[in-house]
Amino acid sequence: MRHPLIAGNWKMHKTVAETRALLRELRAATLPAGVQVVVAPPFTSLSAAHEELHGSPIELGAQTMHQADHGPFTGEISPVMLRELGVQYVILGHSERRAYWNESDDDVAWKVRAALKHGITPIVAVGETATEHERNETIGKVTLQVRAAFAGLAAADVAKCVVAYEPIWAIGTGRNDEPESANGVIAEIRAAVEGLQDARILYGGSMKADNAAALMAQPQIDGGLVGSASLSAKSFLAIVEAARARARQP
Ligand code: 13P
Repeated sequence: MRHPLIAGNWKMHKTVAETRALLRELRAATLPAGVQVVVAPPFTSLSAAHEELHGSPIELGAQTMHQADHGPFTGEISPVMLRELGVQYVILGHSERRAYWNESDDDVAWKVRAALKHGITPIVAVGETATEHERNETIGKVTLQVRAAFAGLAAADVAKCVVAYEPIWAIGTGRNDEPESANGVIAEIRAAVEGLQDARILYGGSMKADNAAALMAQPQIDGGLVGSASLSAKSFLAIVEAARARARQP
């Protein structure tokens, strides 16, 4: 059984005070049974978020991390530091990290190993650009990305990870991929690496309250990695609610 998962990637939004306010709203809600909920605030808010989520089923994620435990890496944050703050998930290889900080497939692979070593669940983001999409290169791109991220890992370790398929042209554009199309891509991702058959694979890219149910009605889509719609309690909770039906599927 792949339990549905809704993760909010807050990106570079929310001060500490704003984090506390949003999390108080989220934790006041009754979440649907069987749906896992994760929020990934900026690093500066993780400590406050950890406090606010004490006793709540909502889990904490980070948006990236360095692969080393410690060292001379100015500005970076290690898995050891994240663990101390109660972080259980980390988004790795988000397309914004790959595009603006030149994170490579090799970097992502190192980070996946480091996260697993420290008991943090990686959420590995993959996806194609608009040009690759138009050229029908989607499957080649995303299967290459997941094979690189999980190269050499035992299937049992791969199964513990989460993948997010995020077509880059759908991120922040209000234009989501069609549910059937995303389902087809995710089926190919699942088949590409041994162990992914049992892993959660999410869809991300303009997932909103009004399209979440249709996306999650697809058999391969186990939840969502949500950007802008995770920044308000109302829209995020509506997406969490849309995963309720999925939690009931055998
Ligand atoms: P949007 O939901 O704002 O399109 O962002 C998706 C995303 O990048 C989540 O990681």
